[in-house]
Amino acid sequence: MDRYAVFGNPIGHSKSPLIHRMFAEQTGQQLSYEPILAPLDDFAGVAREFFRDGLGANVTVPFKEDAYRLCDELTERARRAGAVNTLSRLDGGRLRGDNTDGAGLVRDLKHNAGFPLAGQRILLLGAGGAARGVIEPLLAERPASLVIANRTVEKAEELARLFAELGPVAACGFDWLEEEVDLIVNATSASLAGELPPLAPSLIRPGHTRCYDMMYGKEPTAFNRWAAGLGAAQTVDGLGMLVEQAAEAFFVWRGVRPDGAAVLAELRRQLA
Ligand code: ATR
Repeated sequence: MDRYAVFGNPIGHSKSPLIHRMFAEQTGQQLSYEPILAPLDDFAGVAREFFRDGLGANVTVPFKEDAYRLCDELTERARRAGAVNTLSRLDGGRLRGDNTDGAGLVRDLKHNAGFPLAGQRILLLGAGGAARGVIEPLLAERPASLVIANRTVEKAEELARLFAELGPVAACGFDWLEEEVDLIVNATSASLAGELPPLAPSLIRPGHTRCYDMMYGKEPTAFNRWAAGLGAAQTVDGLGMLVEQAAEAFFVWRGVRPDGAAVLAELRRQLA
């Protein structure tokens, strides 16, 4: 049986095996997909062992940069993201690294949430790995502007420089933000700790501004609660991004695109 896996640490709560099992069933593909706990100091060893016969793997926290370094070749989007979440074994055993996170976010925003992106004023919160991975695909949607705001301003400025040739991207700190925007995407890890970046309420125009948190959980995230409290038009969490980055990886491996929306609906039912 064609073998796939997801590497992470921790990995016990990963939804990826369930998602890929549903994709395989939906598309009639025969494959296995297993969670693998890699030790923090030997991702490369565990990955090489798996790829003696494995065909592909997803990579999650905290190994996306290790996976980037392990690959023999990289797709353009992985190179720009500086991180790899999808590995494929090529003929001869070489490893190709790809990054489907940004494509997953954009697909979830457009197709599942129904958020427009072209011509929109987009604010991206955070300048870590999660933010970096989504800048290129967001700019490809031709927003009016993409402002990256981060607690450590220098990191936002570095990202803005890195992607400047791809579109209208700028950087700033949270305290400089006052003007309303059309869409806010939270890519900080603040929600993990139930925290919220210090954001001005004037960023949200009631009934107009849409908000997206890349995190998700059983309860609404701190960021989405803040936005909803100010009258944001819509608030959506990152469960759909998780499903859609997986759908894109499945497509990379199998050449068949699964229906992410159906799997997302099932996961929402299970989470409720
Ligand atoms: P990830 O891979 O999830 O992006 P990361 O690379 O460690 O993780 O980046 C975490 C991001 O969340 C950073 O932008 C970080 O801001 P700093 O660069 O200033 O550290 C941001 N972040 C984490 N906790 C935060 C908080 N409580 N308030 C605001 N920003 C926070």
